[in-house]
Amino acid sequence: MVKNISLLLVCTVLFSCTGKKQVTTDTKAKSADTVIHVKDAHTLSNADSVEMKHLNLDIQVDMDKKQIRGCALWTIDNKSKAKTLILDTYDLTIDHVLVDGNEVKFVLDTQIRFLGSALHIPIKDKSVNVMVCYKTGPKARALQWLNPQQTHDKVHPFLFTQSESIYARSWIPCADGPGIRFTYSAHVAVPKGLMALMSAENPQAVNDSGVYNFNMDTPIPAYLMALAVGDIAFRQIDDRTGVYAEQGMIEKAAWELADAGRMVDAAEQLYGPYRWGRYDVLICPPGFPIGGMENPRLTFVTPTIIAGDRSLVSLIAHELAHSWSGNLVTNATWNDFWLNEGFTNYFERRITERMLGSSYSDMLWELGYQDFVTAVGELSATNHDTWLKLNLKGRDPDDGLTDIPYEKGSHFLKLIEQSVSRDVFDRFLAKYFESHAFKTITTEAFLKYLDTALIKGDDDLRKKLNINAWVYGPGIPANCPRAGQERFSKVDSQRNKFLSGIPAEQLTTVDWTTHEWLHFLRKMPATLSTMQMRKLDAAFDLSASENSEIADLWFIISVRTGYSTAYGAMDKFLSSVGRRKFLEPLYGEMMKTPAGAAMARSIYGKYRMNYHPLAQESLDRLVLKKS
Ligand code: BES
Ligand code: ZN
Repeated sequence: MVKNISLLLVCTVLFSCTGKKQVTTDTKAKSADTVIHVKDAHTLSNADSVEMKHLNLDIQVDMDKKQIRGCALWTIDNKSKAKTLILDTYDLTIDHVLVDGNEVKFVLDTQIRFLGSALHIPIKDKSVNVMVCYKTGPKARALQWLNPQQTHDKVHPFLFTQSESIYARSWIPCADGPGIRFTYSAHVAVPKGLMALMSAENPQAVNDSGVYNFNMDTPIPAYLMALAVGDIAFRQIDDRTGVYAEQGMIEKAAWELADAGRMVDAAEQLYGPYRWGRYDVLICPPGFPIGGMENPRLTFVTPTIIAGDRSLVSLIAHELAHSWSGNLVTNATWNDFWLNEGFTNYFERRITERMLGSSYSDMLWELGYQDFVTAVGELSATNHDTWLKLNLKGRDPDDGLTDIPYEKGSHFLKLIEQSVSRDVFDRFLAKYFESHAFKTITTEAFLKYLDTALIKGDDDLRKKLNINAWVYGPGIPANCPRAGQERFSKVDSQRNKFLSGIPAEQLTTVDWTTHEWLHFLRKMPATLSTMQMRKLDAAFDLSASENSEIADLWFIISVRTGYSTAYGAMDKFLSSVGRRKFLEPLYGEMMKTPAGAAMARSIYGKYRMNYHPLAQESLDRLVLKKS
């Protein structure tokens, strides 16, 4: 590894290792002839000068050493005759680099906080093949290595990656910006008996050799690179959909996801053809840090969606919707994240409406609105992080990962839909996906497209939408739409009955879904007594809930009200669930009192190792007060 002296030398030549250099990515909106150059502050690469066309990955996955070793062979087009190719890396050891078969001297910069180390490779005008041979390090932020004890079946180890937003560079040397697309093929060797899966064409059975070959011939950005290795089984759902899970989980998983094929059909009816061939879902082990990840062809999800009643599958609708918003039309930089997540949230609810009716999707809208209000409250109403267009320069893109891009983004689209009529908006969106397919989009390019393809000089409409308040302003705009309350007003009246003293078992709750329960519990007053908690628990067995969303909220309320009967179940929940969305609020609630903080430290001490490296980072700050 080259440290400061040579770093200084290279810096003077290339001006590129301060972390300040930014890549520009070409983005072209169909309606505009001009190319908009976009600065992406989160890649150190120079993919604006050197086109990264194809990746041929040849790796071995060492489950004992918890290390990936191998070579990444990049096919490049040095269109601007750059002298150097710069790639992103994070905690990688570079063994050697070959350019068109000849070993070259490379320079690996010292690490810039979350951005990692730029790798400088000398290239010639006509260079085509750049091979980087490397090993991953123990701090690889994309990799979660599970020992058998941390899996569902507890027999074999498991590995999965989570590359969004800038973690692909911790397992592949690459140009790691959402605006940089490439195709890939991969040759992956894993311990015999285990299966390997990627965001590509996948095997459906374990093979004897432990060697798997993959192909993704549709260009994708690095954050959609994904790999999972484990004792995995497959079940077909229909011709183009299926589910992968650990052996002991596969039957339950297949039952829970039985509607996935119909969801793909519903999505296509809304916004045009599904362009990725198969749509499969991998149920990850419990330590998976998020709800789901839209890896192309193979969504990765948390096992916490397996509720036994198909009530949490709107998360699948969400990840599926990314096959259009995100994977097909991709946010140019992480500042434009709402174009991925806000669109997807909107699309998710439209799929859910088709599948389960509008009174159902209205519940998702209302819970989302509540999350929006909470997020604005927590961030403060003037915080720039409550704008749709974020400013993450010099910051970890994870900082922008709040409910704002999701909820403010989707509510903005809902407002447009209501203002122009659903038919008109649906046609606009279908055209947007088609005309921007496999391209990158900035907020500005989207607004321009909106203007030319939809607003078309209608000043009344422009005034009604008040776009600036949404995109370049904080908080909740005054014209924010609100969903119908048909099912939730019934929930409100049951809650009021309970609060006025009517016994819990006399409440009408038989046909409630997860969402009704969430609304019922969310709006309980903070002053709920231990006695009231006990009555709710006796009537509805909430401490024993198998539904992770309900359980998490119940435990938060239990901590808030000091209902210690639930603590045993909460301890068990925290031992296995790794989803940050559940962990952070629950540990956060405990941290509010000295006794709670002591409990949090004791529980976290026991289970820290079960959590993903990124969850550990944020919980170390929250619970252990590490900076
Ligand atoms: N793409 C996101 C996950 C993500 C975003 C990972 C940014 C890392 C950085 C995914 O589609 C997502 O939004 N997942 C949600 C579930 C969804 C139903 C809101 C989650 O994990 O909670
Ligand atoms: Zn998403």
